[in-house]
Amino acid sequence: MRRSSTVGTVYEFDPKTSVAVISRDHFGDIQSDELFTILGQSGVIILRGCINTVEEFSAFVKKHSSRLSLDPARSMVGGAAQLVDAGTHAVGLHCENGNSPFWPDLTWFYCHRAPTQGSQTTICNGADVYWHLSEGCRNFFADAPIRYRRRVAGDKWRRLVCHYRPDINNPSLVSFHDLLKLTQHDPHTTITHDAESDDIHYAYVVSAIQTSSFSALPAFANSILGPSYNYEKPIIDMADGREIPEAYLDEIETITQAHTHPIGWQDHDIAMIDNRRVMHGREEILDMNRQIFNALSYR
Ligand SMILES: [Fe+2]
Repeated sequence: MRRSSTVGTVYEFDPKTSVAVISRDHFGDIQSDELFTILGQSGVIILRGCINTVEEFSAFVKKHSSRLSLDPARSMVGGAAQLVDAGTHAVGLHCENGNSPFWPDLTWFYCHRAPTQGSQTTICNGADVYWHLSEGCRNFFADAPIRYRRRVAGDKWRRLVCHYRPDINNPSLVSFHDLLKLTQHDPHTTITHDAESDDIHYAYVVSAIQTSSFSALPAFANSILGPSYNYEKPIIDMADGREIPEAYLDEIETITQAHTHPIGWQDHDIAMIDNRRVMHGREEILDMNRQIFNALSYR
């Protein structure tokens, strides 16, 4: 289905996957406002075959973001991008860093070398999932927030603080107080520090249903099914201590599965994803030559 943005960018919109595909012709001069408007209509934008290097990808992300975020467990390339290197197993649906107060608005991928078989990044539009959940399940999550709890090792939380505090360039100089200062505006996060191990333990309370800044649509967007490759697996329950009923977990699994689609990578594609509306995951990696980078940022 061919559509046109308010200022004339032509893109192909697939209503089944909620993906907007913009061709190389429109890549060079596209403005942030226009990208955000199209993203609000779709949830995912694929910029097809538009760049050649990870450095160009980093520059593009910086151009269309107010600030960058990172996953402290991954290595950084080109100032904004991080190689997606979490093993070869399939990865469950999640919002990137959606289980912590450092939840970015946007998650970006750059496919330098597309896989020849399987190994696809998958996407699942939470706005579609929301309306397909049973009323009981939808109301259960609308009525009360969920809670993520886990431990994070000292090297990871210290690296995160260094990212947000460029005046501290050595992780060993970071204090626990510096971390608290970064999150103190968020009353939904509690963090404790074990001075002996240097681990922190945090609890983050947030709704499983989000409405992103790009779209007015409520979306089932969370990391209940998400990965924990580089981290201790979080305990996920309701903020008031109740467990999430097994029947709802089964329903979520079934409904999200039915709305999950492979991105269909081609070489040099960028994917721009509304990280509070569209969850992503990954098929098992069968093609070890695939090369995909990720970046995280705020609008
Ligand atoms: Fe991810």
